[in-house]
Amino acid sequence: TQVTAYRAAILHSLADPAQVGLDASYDYYEDGILVVADGHISDIGPADQVLARLPAAAELLNFEHKLITAGFIDTHIHFPQTEMIASYGEQLLDWLNNYTFPEEGKFADPVHAKRVASFFLDELLRNGTTTAMVFGTVHKASVEAFFTESDKRNMRMIAGKVMMDRNAPDYLLDTPESSYIDSKDLIERWHKKGRQLYAVTPRFAPTSTAEQLDMAGRLLQEYDDVYLQTHLSENKQEITWVKELFPDRAGYLDVYDHFGLLGERSVFAHAVHLEQAECERMSETDSVISFCPTSNLFLGSGLLDLPAMENHNIRVGLGTDVGGGTSFSMLRTISEAYKIQQLQQHKLHPLKALYLATLGGARALSLDDKIGNLAIGKEADFLILDLHATPLIQTRMNNTHSLFEQLFVLMMLGDDRAIAETYIAGQRQYQREQASK
Ligand code: GUN
Ligand code: FE
Repeated sequence: TQVTAYRAAILHSLADPAQVGLDASYDYYEDGILVVADGHISDIGPADQVLARLPAAAELLNFEHKLITAGFIDTHIHFPQTEMIASYGEQLLDWLNNYTFPEEGKFADPVHAKRVASFFLDELLRNGTTTAMVFGTVHKASVEAFFTESDKRNMRMIAGKVMMDRNAPDYLLDTPESSYIDSKDLIERWHKKGRQLYAVTPRFAPTSTAEQLDMAGRLLQEYDDVYLQTHLSENKQEITWVKELFPDRAGYLDVYDHFGLLGERSVFAHAVHLEQAECERMSETDSVISFCPTSNLFLGSGLLDLPAMENHNIRVGLGTDVGGGTSFSMLRTISEAYKIQQLQQHKLHPLKALYLATLGGARALSLDDKIGNLAIGKEADFLILDLHATPLIQTRMNNTHSLFEQLFVLMMLGDDRAIAETYIAGQRQYQREQASK
């Protein structure tokens, strides 16, 4: 067995600061060593201690001005929207009609789907994202292409074929039956194959008939460990429309609830305008919110009240929501999350932000037994962050010695340039070119 040891500063989350307090929420080794064997973390600790017990045959790699942490986890993103990111001027419903649907139409071509899936996954790697929960398009082949590319890179990904049978152009519609059969086929082919996992993916309530949402519920009943991903209460006009389309339901969340779509593996993107009773129902069913800061700002959707969701005991992960979101970088996403909380007089501590982007994301996706931090036994998805990524960051770092401040600076100023290397199950899958520094 090849054993590799990585020596640098190491920081990782151990628990939610809201639950255990800041001090118990992390481990930090100023001079630490992370040891990887067979794609898993086999040891971690202060360098002097780990060196003393390191197998003689281990390869030791040293890093200067670097910080090792767990890979980032993006709980909501659309791979087919990669090439339409930053489309000008509209809010959700017009943005979908004018930009998104035509772009997704291109995925009828499997060659296009493969090319974009490949670019997308490489872009995640260069931004330090090692796991994501991902929308395909309505085309079964888009998800086939995605899983094929993800499996090639051995990345732990959750993805699904969009189900949509109304309120979109004809070329993007499926039917309740075809969406059921296609989803089932993809589950059989890909769920738990290598590191791949499947999510049943009705786009959002307005683009599915009751019959189709019923089929989504049926899939969840037939496969008790697949996921569910959709959108919820993102935009005020959208919410009004859902109430018109489903007049018999108590509200937006109740549409999903009625068809059995809530639960601990159900991830709802946005949820920025939930009513009190909806928060309570999310909590009762242990359903998850994906907080998508750059998207909520870019599409003018609204501001998520993070502490309010936590007071309801709702699990929250962070999402980029590319192409409604404007960056693949979880560092950029954290920086916008911080500002959204500031606008509501809340603080987002850098250790809390680190938790949300790593272990909290893993908990949101019920994967915290496998990924999310550098605990011994976990899959070795980790990053080498560059604390001197740019001249400005380097200058600012030299002006502070506190770990929290350094972490905060990296979060406010960092982007893909701060990711020196990305490791997937112990294999380096990305290394930044020195020239780009
Ligand atoms: N609601 C329904 N579809 C979408 C989408 O593609 N992006 C976002 N942000 N919201 C949606
Ligand atoms: Fe989305």
